[in-house]
Amino acid sequence: MPKGFTLWFTGLSGAGKSTLAEAVAQELTKRGRKYDILDGDEVRTHLSQGLGFSKEDRDTNIKRIGWVASKITKHGGIAITAAISPYRATRDWCRELISQEGGFIEVYCAAPLEVCERRDVKGLYKKARAGEITQFTGIDDPYEPPLNPEIILETHKESVAESTAKIIQTLERLGYL
Ligand code: ADX
Repeated sequence: MPKGFTLWFTGLSGAGKSTLAEAVAQELTKRGRKYDILDGDEVRTHLSQGLGFSKEDRDTNIKRIGWVASKITKHGGIAITAAISPYRATRDWCRELISQEGGFIEVYCAAPLEVCERRDVKGLYKKARAGEITQFTGIDDPYEPPLNPEIILETHKESVAESTAKIIQTLERLGYL
């Protein structure tokens, strides 16, 4: 059985987490590998329905994602998570849990706030600036960048293809693919 692992994307809203999760998933399919994507928006409509964006609720959300990812990893699967996961200590909690079962590869989508805000795909930055929504990551809520991520992606400078290639190469180098 191949060794299971979790690919843990983290970064601001609009930094490219979901896009890259999908792009990596396509590459895995080409290689005949199965995966599960735990996307922040999707998890919040199912597993974490009713949770908000306080530190406590975000931590609950992220720990749930980490727990599910650890189960997938334990059974030789591939979990791809794509949530902002803004708090370093909570990501490290997930790293600790998942590393007991298999690999944990943290992928930091490092597009700066200005770029994410300029893109504003969902129009939420505009709302946050206008005060229509509060506790928005990067505006009036913190984002703590990883100190030692396995992969850093300059998603504001690299194409999706370039970022995807970096991830696949790292997974190959680490012996997961
Ligand atoms: S996390 O902080 O708990 O990891 P998660 O990734 O699940 O966040 O959800 C983030 C998504 O929820 C964003 O991409 C955005 O679409 C939406 N959202 C709504 N309100 C907020 C907010 N206050 N802060 C961040 N994201 C928000």
